[in-house]
Amino acid sequence: MRKNITIAAVVALAMTTAGCTTTGDGGMSGGMKPPSAEARALAEKLTFAENGFVQEQPMQEGGTGRDRLTQDETQKICTDVALSGKPIDDATASKVRALAKASIKYPAGGIKLGDWEKGRVLAWSGFGFRTAHKPDNHKKREPGATCYNCHQLATDRTGGTIGPSLTNYGKIRGSSDEILKYAYDMIYNPNVTFPCTNMPRFGANGVLTEQQIADVMAYLFDPKSLVNK
Ligand code: HEC
Repeated sequence: MRKNITIAAVVALAMTTAGCTTTGDGGMSGGMKPPSAEARALAEKLTFAENGFVQEQPMQEGGTGRDRLTQDETQKICTDVALSGKPIDDATASKVRALAKASIKYPAGGIKLGDWEKGRVLAWSGFGFRTAHKPDNHKKREPGATCYNCHQLATDRTGGTIGPSLTNYGKIRGSSDEILKYAYDMIYNPNVTFPCTNMPRFGANGVLTEQQIADVMAYLFDPKSLVNK
């Protein structure tokens, strides 16, 4: 059992590393060689056929570990793009965009800004959806949005650099219907604008609720938000 967990960790790490070497334009950075077809097949075998991960473990979003590990259509396409070592081609980009577009649901009353202070807490929090030996208990604590892991937002905290700085976002971009829709789409499913991006699909994957997205949007756009100070 222990050995299996170690193997799963190594495979997961290998897969994550491969995923993280892609840039927004789908190219491989740092001159890394994509893993061979044999290495991919072995990773799949160790994960699925050898039960390297506790497959039947229930996930917070419903379903099992196996469901979580199984790539959906977008992930399969984007893995192939990453492993090809080439930028995404136009036809593939259109396909990924179309899948993303179909996944986006808009609030019944239109896109609204919620509470920026709640958005601030969400943008910082990385809690939620972790599994394995100590699964995050969503009944005890609300899952967060991890925006700071990749972005600088307000300057009272230090953010990551995987994504662009979003400091003064509302102040710079304004809050027209177009820009609100663009930002909402980015949070819901960023593949609609950046096919095969590294940014997660917070709405499409059910990580954030409609209300939470509104709160994060307020953090970006509300003139009172620390992001715009
Ligand atoms: C895993 C890293 C990651 C996380 C987490 C992440 N983003 Fe991003 N984000 C990116 C990347 C990378 C881009 C640039 C798009 C590209 O090139 O693929 C981006 C772009 C954006 C943009 C568009 C920027 C522009 O210039 O208009 C917005 C808005 C945005 N992110 C908001 C958010 C918010 C809000 C959160 C939290 C709910 C978040 N992001 C979480 C990686 C991330």
